[in-house]
Amino acid sequence: MKTVYIHENQLATAGELLANGRLVAFPTETVYGLGADACSDVAIKAIFEAKGRPSDNPLIVHVAGVDQVYPLVLDVTEATQRLMVRFWPGPITLIFPKSKRVSNLVTAGLDTVAIRIPSHPWANAVLKHAQIPVAAPSANRSGSPSATTWQAVQQDLDQRIDAIVCGPPTDIGLESTVVDAAGEQPRILRPGKITWEELVKVCPSIVPYSGHVDRGNELLNSPGLRHRHYQPRAQVTLVRGHLPAVHQEAWFIGLNKSSGTDSCSRCLYCDSVEDYSARLFDFFRQADDAGVKTIYCEEVDETGIGVALMDRLRRASQS
Ligand code: TXA
Ligand code: MG
Repeated sequence: MKTVYIHENQLATAGELLANGRLVAFPTETVYGLGADACSDVAIKAIFEAKGRPSDNPLIVHVAGVDQVYPLVLDVTEATQRLMVRFWPGPITLIFPKSKRVSNLVTAGLDTVAIRIPSHPWANAVLKHAQIPVAAPSANRSGSPSATTWQAVQQDLDQRIDAIVCGPPTDIGLESTVVDAAGEQPRILRPGKITWEELVKVCPSIVPYSGHVDRGNELLNSPGLRHRHYQPRAQVTLVRGHLPAVHQEAWFIGLNKSSGTDSCSRCLYCDSVEDYSARLFDFFRQADDAGVKTIYCEEVDETGIGVALMDRLRRASQS
């Protein structure tokens, strides 16, 4: 399959391709997404195939405006409504009981659907032109770090999808916060840029993200948490304070707190936890391109977006 490369003045073409059942990658404020018609079984099957994604891992449906949400859902709880008003458009995904309109392949057989209205102007333009709900996982091969540049999408998916929108690098660099406020007890299923500290102001009873290990039934409720994720080929080792003796080619990313980094062949010192988050996945990809064996990542404090960054770092470091 020949992949078409789409530029800023051709976003209507990207929308038309999606409306015609094609696979199109486009930038959002979090990471690049790989979009397809959320109501078409054929298109959704093609997403899973292009990514090599396990079919039990459900997809997020993206829409341009709130009016497009209602046909896709059976109910909107009061807590969900408050979150929609406060945080949409933006980097937060909300869970709803699904209507029949959404393909069962999108939700991997669950009776809930995850929905997001992105704030990125390019994503919004593409969704408006498409005029359909668009299921979009991160635009990377399954298991690899999410794509934060169009070149990363190209690296993973060239010749496997119909088109790539060549937008700017994404601002946030980590995937959206996923919140389930559809039931009695609202909770954070995946931490992201919208933090617990912000969420609790709108939803006082919300349960903070509790990590992804040994959570029994919770794993069933967010099946994506089961799968290998965010891993570069290089070994990722988390460090705090002092680096262990470095024996082979290693790179370092962090906030300039650790010592011993002078033995690494490349060091990326980030200005803030936000900056670290935005640069992490691209750094992983650059390290793999350079054939680096080990990436040392400095741990950060688990407050604010630090919760999301530490979640991604821990998953990346699992062997
Ligand atoms: O920022 C993002 O969310 C990006 C951009 C493209 O929007 N998308 C993204 O999609 O990260 P993906 O497929 O890589 O991650 C989707 C996550 C998975 O952890 C999945 O299990 C969860 O959302 N999810 C999807 N539907 C769900 C549902 N009905 N209930 C619980 N979790 C769900
Ligand atoms: Mg993903």
